[in-house]
Amino acid sequence: MTGQEKAPRKVEHVAIIMDGNGRWATRRGLPRLVGHRKGAARVREIVDICPDIGVKYLTLYAFSTENWKRAEAEVSGLMSLFRRYITRETERLHEHRVRVRFIGDRSRLDPKLIKLMARLEEKTAKNDHLNLTIALNYGGRDELTRAMKTLAEDAAEGRVDPEDINEQSIGFYVDTRYLPDPDLIIRTSGEKRISNFLLWQSAYAEYEFVPTLWPDFTAEEFTAIVASFTGRERRFGAATA
Ligand code: FPP
Repeated sequence: MTGQEKAPRKVEHVAIIMDGNGRWATRRGLPRLVGHRKGAARVREIVDICPDIGVKYLTLYAFSTENWKRAEAEVSGLMSLFRRYITRETERLHEHRVRVRFIGDRSRLDPKLIKLMARLEEKTAKNDHLNLTIALNYGGRDELTRAMKTLAEDAAEGRVDPEDINEQSIGFYVDTRYLPDPDLIIRTSGEKRISNFLLWQSAYAEYEFVPTLWPDFTAEEFTAIVASFTGRERRFGAATA
């Protein structure tokens, strides 16, 4: 490659706002939870395809800090869906050498769910085929608030000199400290909002908003979107020569 040529752009970290489960179900006259169950089946399909298309990190927005405002039955249905998903998928994810981690505030979650999450993280800790991160009780502002509290404590106790705080060191305080920033964020269901997702990490991300409802979002559509971004140049604010 000569100095004039640009390296093809890689899309290694894709984050997804999985939206539209409720509408998918309502349009069919079904309870919203059926949509969430269909959505969980799509999660499996999208996870499976990632290694084949060069995606090394997949981050999924499963439950936001705002989602507690939903009807109690929907919230508890989602929580039992997460428990079932983890219980059922642990072996399969491990066999596929997927490393799973969770981001978000665990303190408000059910202790049984917290235990399952920790077990899945431990079991898959040495896997390297795909890094799957599930955002559960996650909110970007909540994450930054928690990060700032810890940073302030570290500064107050002399572990950090405020003079030394920079973008890189802040990166160690957010939940995604072990992840590269997302290259691409996809939101399904036609809404064009980021809904408090990865606020710090998305500074240079590309966005794709698709009308497809999450339960209809196939591996083919996902592959086509990733392919359309691969090779696109991203300049991080710098001018091209
Ligand atoms: C948004 O659709 C979706 C959610 C709040 C839950 C996402 C959960 C899943 C896809 C299920 C399983 C996930 C994992 C990781 C196992 P919505 O209910 O807001 O849809 P609407 O906007 O049409 O009402």
